[in-house]
Amino acid sequence: MRLLLFGPPGGGKGTQATLLKEKYTIPHISTGDILRKSVSDGTTLGVRAKEHMDKGKLVPDDIMIGLVGEVLKSGDCNNGFILDGFPRTVAQAEALDVVFKELDIELDAVIYVKVDQEEIISRLSQRWMCRSCNNIFNTAIDTIDHNECPKCGGILYQRDDDKPDVVKQRLDIYEKTTLPVLNYYNTTGKLIEVDGTGNVREVYNRILAGVQK
Ligand code: AP5
Repeated sequence: MRLLLFGPPGGGKGTQATLLKEKYTIPHISTGDILRKSVSDGTTLGVRAKEHMDKGKLVPDDIMIGLVGEVLKSGDCNNGFILDGFPRTVAQAEALDVVFKELDIELDAVIYVKVDQEEIISRLSQRWMCRSCNNIFNTAIDTIDHNECPKCGGILYQRDDDKPDVVKQRLDIYEKTTLPVLNYYNTTGKLIEVDGTGNVREVYNRILAGVQK
């Protein structure tokens, strides 16, 4: 299964990817998670990425295209993958197709998880994440002690880019630069639009129904 998860910041892509990863036993490639790891490791990529991420801006295409190409060409993705957070520009979508051609593979589905801005702002103000296992929590629905991850005991934190002014910038960029990527996939017959509101299980069941069709 080769899936692409598309949607706004805070739309629930990472949450759904965790469930899909368990169902299909395929790797979850989250460009956001890869970048955050590079930032915390202090790599050259991390240093370059951080200045963009902290402002809610996109990391330049050349960096992202090289990064995702490398991951997809590694043997880890031979049995499929869930791509989350890429592509975010039309140039990234075009470059992804070039990689797929090289590898002689195709996507099975592009899942667009649709959520309105009011819900996104509320969700991101309540998000906590685990530094060790990357699990995602929402304090409105999950019972958590803010110091400790209930899944692995790791340390929980709130992302710097979940501050209200940075969220606003991320949403603006999503509308202007990322939403047009949907047109790119519109004619492929692979685009599945899913209502991302309701509880996590309801959204998951909608995604599965769409994928299984
Ligand atoms: P990234 O980490 O990819 O951020 P994002 O796309 O903005 O998405 P989020 O991770 O914020 O949200 P999500 O949709 O995964 O939602 P989640 O499941 O966490 O990217 C971060 C940055 O890296 C970018 O801003 C950019 O700078 C850079 N970057 C990454 N990729 C790039 C690329 N390709 N090109 C250029 N730059 C790139 O859910 C959110 C909250 O809602 C959680 O609290 C969760 O518990 C809760 N929740 C989820 N589902 C539900 C539900 N159904 N009901 C109630 N609460 C829910």
